[in-house]
Amino acid sequence: MNPSKQAKIFDKHARLYEKRRNKSTIDTKFRKKLLASASGNILEVSAGTGTNFPLYRNVTSLTAVDFSTEMVRYAKEAAKEVSFDCTVIQEDVEKLVFRENQFDTIVSTLSMCSYPHPEFVLEQMGQWCKPDGQILLFEHGISSNKVAARLQENLDPLFSEKFGCHLDRDIIGKVNERFEVTRVDSHLMGIFHLIWATPFK
Ligand SMILES: C[S@@+](CC[C@H](N)C(=O)[O-])C[C@H]1O[C@@H](n2cnc3c(N)ncnc32)[C@H](O)[C@@H]1O
Repeated sequence: MNPSKQAKIFDKHARLYEKRRNKSTIDTKFRKKLLASASGNILEVSAGTGTNFPLYRNVTSLTAVDFSTEMVRYAKEAAKEVSFDCTVIQEDVEKLVFRENQFDTIVSTLSMCSYPHPEFVLEQMGQWCKPDGQILLFEHGISSNKVAARLQENLDPLFSEKFGCHLDRDIIGKVNERFEVTRVDSHLMGIFHLIWATPFK
């Protein structure tokens, strides 16, 4: 799907995401667990309305990126409510340019399902992350349960066209190929994963 059409789909969902911000939902405990490890100069890709912003604890600065006009509008409001330096940028993550080794921590929550080229985004994250930095991911992908996986594969064409989100990606495999994975917590039939990783030495 072309990026501007996909961004418009997310524009339509922004209000729903905004309503969940500052509320405790089923995924809040996963987000808190993962983001407890985030520190220093942080890049959050595809940050949506800024759901994660209030959950960061040890931040020097946060750069948050999203391509949806509506998501960014809400994220800019969310940025005003935090006590650390927070910059929100509207851009396609696949077109971002940052210096090598610029960030201590790179965060993505529920975004790897959306990119046309998730492998490229992971590789870019590896470039932007300091050698001793960390990559923290909360993502969904193809289930480890065969029946659920078959259902995901069947639903994927419809789901990706309507919501701009792929259900059947092998996220763990893609991350393992590109990073030193230090911990994975998988949930809900192996569909959702919390991943702690570092660049290969
Ligand atoms: C499922 S939402 C998740 C939002 C947020 N990360 C969260 O955890 O609530 C996916 C987000 O990715 C953004 N997104 C998808 N593809 C993108 C791209 N290529 N560049 C920038 N943002 C993108 C969408 O606009 C949307 O805000």
